[in-house]
Amino acid sequence: MHSFTFLLTLGLALPGVHSIPSESSSTDRLSAARALPSGDLYPPQPPGGGPGKRGLLYSSESNPDWSDFYIGSSYVTYGSNGDVVRGDEIDNTWFSFVPTIVVDAQLENSIWNDTVPILIEGGTKALFASNEPDNPLEANLTPSQCVTVYQRYMQPYHGTVQLGTPAVTNGGGLAGLTYLEDFIQLCAGCAYNFVNIHFFIDRSEMNVTQYIQALKLYIDVNVPAIQAQHDSLTGLPIAVGAFWLTGASEDEAGDLMDELLPWLDDNDNVLFYQAAGGLFEGEFVNAAGTGLTPAGTAYGNLGP
Ligand SMILES: *[C@@H]1O[C@H](CO)[C@@H](O)[C@H](O)[C@H]1NC(C)=O
Ligand SMILES: *[C@@H]1O[C@H](CO)[C@@H](O)[C@H](O)[C@H]1NC(C)=O
Repeated sequence: MHSFTFLLTLGLALPGVHSIPSESSSTDRLSAARALPSGDLYPPQPPGGGPGKRGLLYSSESNPDWSDFYIGSSYVTYGSNGDVVRGDEIDNTWFSFVPTIVVDAQLENSIWNDTVPILIEGGTKALFASNEPDNPLEANLTPSQCVTVYQRYMQPYHGTVQLGTPAVTNGGGLAGLTYLEDFIQLCAGCAYNFVNIHFFIDRSEMNVTQYIQALKLYIDVNVPAIQAQHDSLTGLPIAVGAFWLTGASEDEAGDLMDELLPWLDDNDNVLFYQAAGGLFEGEFVNAAGTGLTPAGTAYGNLGP
């Protein structure tokens, strides 16, 4: 249950910003990803190919056995852990891997340049740019810093794999889509293959029906309106890099998935998506760690 406690803590710490991903705190939960195992064979499926638009969020704190439920599901084809180090938490013959650029205070990542070509050779088809640079508790970069990171670590791979924009929150003010616009305007010569957005709202603010309506509006109207104003974004598909109705009960989260996932799959403008927090207890796995929740079952299309 630690992840829900964690979410609540973040929610309180960041008033006015709705988007609080449970895969947060890359320093604590994600940077402990273990070393790349030798002899990795990465599967060929690209994110967004066929029905397999779904990704699993995981970290070294996840129980890797849980990903086994999804092996063979044509819906779940890749994983990501907020890091460039894949780790061995999820099966590497079924799941493709999408690395995420994280940088130190000097805006450097000492292993990205060496690791990404190996991942691409192994089947990686997409790269995630900075994770919530508009969130003080996540990548926390100014738009200008975020541009430096993009130009240094993402842009060199344009034309080789699919590149996401920095994944912004659905926060208001200078965060969210406003941040994305600031970044886009500063990032001279930058090119992207998909717009990466996160969408978190707390259950205390809306119910499942309302959340689905809000997310549909965001994907169909709000994000395209921003895209239409910037040549470098026009016509790009959208990735929903992380989303959740934070604090929803297990049954509510199951209802949310049942209704939302088919819509996301059928929406040609949605390239791929990842529900948060994926392979964590209280989210896709029940609190006792003994089986999948209704949401976890729906995610793999594993229901009766
Ligand atoms: C990685 O490559 C980029 C682009 O060539 C370069 O600007 C950057 O300094 C390199 N970073 C490291 C840590 O080697
Ligand atoms: C959510 O709230 C709206 C507005 O109060 C209501 O019409 C709707 O039935 C609710 N949906 C659910 C699933 O409770």
